[in-house]
Amino acid sequence: MLLFYIDCTMKTFYVTTPIYYTNGPPHLGHAYTTIAADVIARFKKLQGYDVYFVTGTDEHGQKVEKAAKEAGKTPKQFVDELVDEFKSLWVELDIEYDKFIRTTDDYHEKAVQNVFQKVYDAGFIYKGNYEGWYCVPDETFLTDGQLVDGKCPDCGRAVQKEKEETYFFKLSSFKPQLLKLFEANKNFVEPQSRWHESYNFFKDELRDLSVTRKSVKWGIPVPFDKSHTIYVWFDALFNYLTAIGYDGKTAKTAGKYWPADVHLVGKEIAKFHAVYWPAMLMAAGLEVPKKVYAHGWWTIEGQKMSKSTGNYVEPREVIKKYGSDAFRYFLLRENTFGDDGDYSQKSFDSRYNGELADEFGNLANRTLVMLSRYCGGKIPAKPKTSKLKETVEEKVKVYEEKMEHYQFNRSLEAVWDIIKGANKLVNDTAPWKLAKEGKQSEVDAVMYELCEALRITAILLYPFMPRKTAELYTALGLEDLKAAKLKDAKWGKIKAGTQTKTGAVLFPKIV
Ligand code: MSP
Repeated sequence: MLLFYIDCTMKTFYVTTPIYYTNGPPHLGHAYTTIAADVIARFKKLQGYDVYFVTGTDEHGQKVEKAAKEAGKTPKQFVDELVDEFKSLWVELDIEYDKFIRTTDDYHEKAVQNVFQKVYDAGFIYKGNYEGWYCVPDETFLTDGQLVDGKCPDCGRAVQKEKEETYFFKLSSFKPQLLKLFEANKNFVEPQSRWHESYNFFKDELRDLSVTRKSVKWGIPVPFDKSHTIYVWFDALFNYLTAIGYDGKTAKTAGKYWPADVHLVGKEIAKFHAVYWPAMLMAAGLEVPKKVYAHGWWTIEGQKMSKSTGNYVEPREVIKKYGSDAFRYFLLRENTFGDDGDYSQKSFDSRYNGELADEFGNLANRTLVMLSRYCGGKIPAKPKTSKLKETVEEKVKVYEEKMEHYQFNRSLEAVWDIIKGANKLVNDTAPWKLAKEGKQSEVDAVMYELCEALRITAILLYPFMPRKTAELYTALGLEDLKAAKLKDAKWGKIKAGTQTKTGAVLFPKIV
């Protein structure tokens, strides 16, 4: 009889990306958040967590309705085509999500109607009239006072006047609870600057929020008044729950992954996640997420990213030329997650040729070639003393600590200290000379150290570069990097006698 054991003691970790508007194809900004979420998910798995990772598409609302009309398509036809583009890019980028949610999925629409009804029954939704401004690109309501030079304060684009019957959500009544949430947890929103920004957004004045549209037909109908559709942000935010099984009626259906450990978002949508979303959850009798992490924005070559001006990065082209791992690496290495960053070709090439080709790739290549030449390609016995062990152990700790705080560039720096240390060891000891002088035991000792440093490096870099690290792991004669855990990144675990292989260069230089 076969027995299957499910480890119920395993700690869960739930990470999400924003769900992306299907008004155009995926771009660098979408890829950035999704790659970051994938890196976090893979890292948490390395730590031994039971991880759930959700991404998807936000398909309703005025912005998508308008884009479909301009393309001469029905909204459904239009979004179906774009969803395929998102999904196929995620395949190319090795995004290992557990669930891709579409807000046009039946189960989502049903659950959103249920929860809308629930919040209405609880007395938190009432009928009224909205009069004010609306920014279609951001799908956001704005007051006179919020406009900057008559334009949207967030995206700087033109706004339109709206006057229509609507149902309001009693957002204002949640102010005391929101204040408590923010004051009790200074890390509820990170980085700190975004906590302050979100807090300042509501601490003085918090108005009720219009949560239905009469003039927008492309949306989920309000269950008790079919002449209205549900506001796209109310619909979209609940994806984080419906994706994991929440039926809109009973909190229990949210299951073991709720509350989410982290919602990754771009800085421009922090307020929706940090203020509106917790209030909606409170109204529905649900727990709030543990953290909202808002990252910064990319400019391209110092300018605002814009397809119309040609200042644009096409992810698929970068992948074609440099490979998906290099793209993933660059985005998380180039700047601090949380800050704005600039994407420049010069910097990409310098990191690719310098850090990936010359430092990491070359270390892997020359180690395996020397091992084959001087040791028959077999891992030598573990030497009694080690020159790299101490640094490696210290850097593994730094790596883990920085990863916990989503300081990806700092974790990568720690790994690069290992790589640099190993390259220095090669240069200092010159194994080819030792071999010529017949000092085989010294050659063996150095080669063992290099292989062990590479094995540990492969484990640490796996969340960032799952393809190349798996190639390296296999070349080292090891199996199944995906199943490795962070506790395997301990010095001295590589087995003597393991047969390695030399193979293709990991990162061929690109000029
Ligand atoms: N549909 C909403 C989110 C709903 S979540 C319940 C939305 N979609 S979006 O398509 O506009 O995607 C927003 C996300 O794209 C941002 O949060 C950010 O992750 C990413 N970015 C868009 N442009 C960006 C840059 N120039 N730089 C970095 N990321 C940016 O908002």
